Amino acid sequence: MKKIQIGELSASQVVLGIMNFNEPNKDTVRALEVAAEGGINFFDNADIYGKGECEKIFADSFAKSSLKRENVYIQSKVGIVPGIEYNFTKEHIIEATEGSMKRLKVDYLDSLLLHRPDTLLEPEEVASAFDELEKSGKVRHFGVSNQNPGQIDLLKTAVKQPLLMNQLQFSLTNTSMIDAGFHVNMTDTQSISHDGGILEYSRIHKMTIQAWSPFRYGFFEGFFVGNREKFPELNKKLDEIAAKYGVSPDGIAIAWINRHPANMQTIIGTVNTDRIKAVTDASDVVLTHQEWYELYLAAGNKLP
Ligand SMILES: NC(=O)c1ccc[n+]([C@@H]2O[C@H](COP(=O)([O-])OP(=O)(O)OC[C@H]3O[C@@H](n4cnc5c(N)ncnc54)[C@H](OP(=O)(O)O)[C@@H]3O)[C@@H](O)[C@H]2O)c1
Repeated sequence: MKKIQIGELSASQVVLGIMNFNEPNKDTVRALEVAAEGGINFFDNADIYGKGECEKIFADSFAKSSLKRENVYIQSKVGIVPGIEYNFTKEHIIEATEGSMKRLKVDYLDSLLLHRPDTLLEPEEVASAFDELEKSGKVRHFGVSNQNPGQIDLLKTAVKQPLLMNQLQFSLTNTSMIDAGFHVNMTDTQSISHDGGILEYSRIHKMTIQAWSPFRYGFFEGFFVGNREKFPELNKKLDEIAAKYGVSPDGIAIAWINRHPANMQTIIGTVNTDRIKAVTDASDVVLTHQEWYELYLAAGNKLP
């Protein structure tokens, strides 16, 4: 498994997200072990997943597993109060982070991200919260999630710590981050930039994009791998390339993200050990330039 250098962290390119750890009848202990056996050393949490239940299940499963705290990176996210508000006040950031740490049963987080932008934020308050969390040893690295370049630059007017990662939705069927770059100066809908050039910004500023929901289409509408009715061309191409490399189509869907030179991490959310293994088994596949474009087009995208 390729490692991505994020500040001092030598992080696996594939991350296991724990948003679905509260699904019934899932062997979450085995999921962690299969992930670690496949080279995953990075786990993504958030205070809101399962209303805190997922972090608790993660902590209990971790304790029962053979994994050791010092060998892995544990990340969490705060800043959303579901259905009510986004909240980047100092008080909320600190309180929510401490709540997360308590449920995760950790005395430090390797990284903390601000989950979704709060338009009422005061950069100085965020800076003060980060300073306090860093000084007390509770958080080692900081980042953001679902933010555009202007929002990141606004935070940087006050925040001293480097913002090292940004979680964004990206997959073969959610490509808005790259579409506009192919359609510059054109008037079709694909030319519309939905994020202010975040892909190029991330590369220029050496921020790691953590691609979330790599198997889903739309905003939690369904899954594209194996969905031959809705994505016939894409599945045909995934099958063809998977057969060439002797891996699964799931693995190729992730290899497509990992092939991008932006050095992204991909956060998979499966708790199914077969699917985790399928992804880690394919993690060293490096698609050719042509294969990458063939998959992009098979997903229904157009190049001018
Ligand atoms: N920053 C953000 O705003 C944000 C938003 C969403 C997620 N995230 C992070 O990203 C992680 C991954 O998100 P995600 O869970 O949406 O990612 P995902 O890996 O795209 O989806 C995983 C879920 O889809 C199911 N699945 C995958 N392929 C399938 C198929 N072919 N057929 C049927 N079911 C299939 C999995 O079920 P099985 O378990 O049965 O395989 C699992 O429930 C989360 O855990 C979280 O850490 C961040």
